[in-house]
Amino acid sequence: MPLTDERVPLHRLTFARPGPPRRTTLSDGSPAWVFTRYADVHQVIGDGRFRRTLIRASRDGATALVDSPDAVGKLDDVQHLRVRRTVQRAFGPRAVARMTPWVADAVDELVDALADHGPPADLVAHYTRPLPIAVMSRLTGVQDVSDARLLRWTENAFATGAQDPAEVAEVTREFTDFTIGLLAERRRTPGPDLISSLVRAADGEGGIPEPQLVNLVSILVVGGYDTVMTVLGNSLLYLLHERPEVWTRLGTSDEEAAGLLTERLLHLLPLGDPTAHSNPLQAEEDIEVGGVTVRAGEIVTVDRGAAGRDPAAFSDEPFDDLFAPLESPTLAFGGGRHYCLGTWLARAELRLALHALAARFPHLHLTTPVDEITWRRGTITRSPLHLPARW
Ligand code: HEM
Repeated sequence: MPLTDERVPLHRLTFARPGPPRRTTLSDGSPAWVFTRYADVHQVIGDGRFRRTLIRASRDGATALVDSPDAVGKLDDVQHLRVRRTVQRAFGPRAVARMTPWVADAVDELVDALADHGPPADLVAHYTRPLPIAVMSRLTGVQDVSDARLLRWTENAFATGAQDPAEVAEVTREFTDFTIGLLAERRRTPGPDLISSLVRAADGEGGIPEPQLVNLVSILVVGGYDTVMTVLGNSLLYLLHERPEVWTRLGTSDEEAAGLLTERLLHLLPLGDPTAHSNPLQAEEDIEVGGVTVRAGEIVTVDRGAAGRDPAAFSDEPFDDLFAPLESPTLAFGGGRHYCLGTWLARAELRLALHALAARFPHLHLTTPVDEITWRRGTITRSPLHLPARW
């Protein structure tokens, strides 16, 4: 059966060829510049004169949490910095280094449970989904929410617009009410968890508008697990189906090699399908980029997928040696002021999860052919719903 677009595994997606800036039209009809070269994308996302708030009004109809005007990804300047500062220390490299032992324990517990279960087993149900849920539960102290409810909240928080808007609004309301309750509870009885320290930091900042804090906490509760589950699932699909020799080598490799492989997978496997025009920005003054002048008020957008394959920055054959260090810093986590806050945690979780699984199950293989995989769709991320495996 030929693969249709939405069934193409993420490692086989093709991207626009990087080239000079060109004109495009966004989904709402507005004209925009699109940047596809690594250097241009790097410049645009690193330049604070490209702002997020100015075009917010055009997206105010959206109800998904990431599209809300209160989302950290939609704020600029001091408002943005204040929200970021509350969470930055909790997720920096030092904090993540302190978490690594218990993340490794969570990985080991799941690997043991998989061994006890025995083949066949679904790697999504037994590994890629429960691991990030366990990590985020421990981090946030949110333990009494069923996986089904968490999944429903996630799909709504990251909805692409394909869903019924009334339903998205309804579930978003339910999720927001939950978060409001959670914040109230942690204010009353603070604990050693991330949410309690966020509340403390936010109140210490002289008060962050409550809707921004509610949005941030909601995004952390679901975002932290959805992203890692997605990359882990797509990595396993790729490695086990197409690179058994890499899987074998990973099982006997050291931490450093596992880290290099993780970085390359993060770089090569996008979180979802290319939606070239996500997160448009607006120039607050005339700015030169890539040989063109973006005029004040014009809208620009970046294609990180295309830029990630730019031969001026990366190898022509990026899949060849998966253990080779990346030739340039990846754009997978964005850049500039909105650089992903979960970078260090995501890297550590993925490295530990891939490494431990390969070490314990060197003969792991998937039993469903790649073109029969069913996909989780309708959100900005896409990953296999099931990965039936034997060993
Ligand atoms: C494989 C894992 C992940 C990838 C590929 C990823 C990717 C990204 C990207 C590209 C951005 C920038 C978006 C923009 O420019 O607006 C971003 C922002 C963000 N990410 Fe991640 N992410 C991952 C994991 C995580 C995790 C585990 C967390 C939290 C626990 C997290 C929390 C955030 C937050 C809060 C922002 C907003 C930062 C801001 O706007 O200042 N991410 N992520």
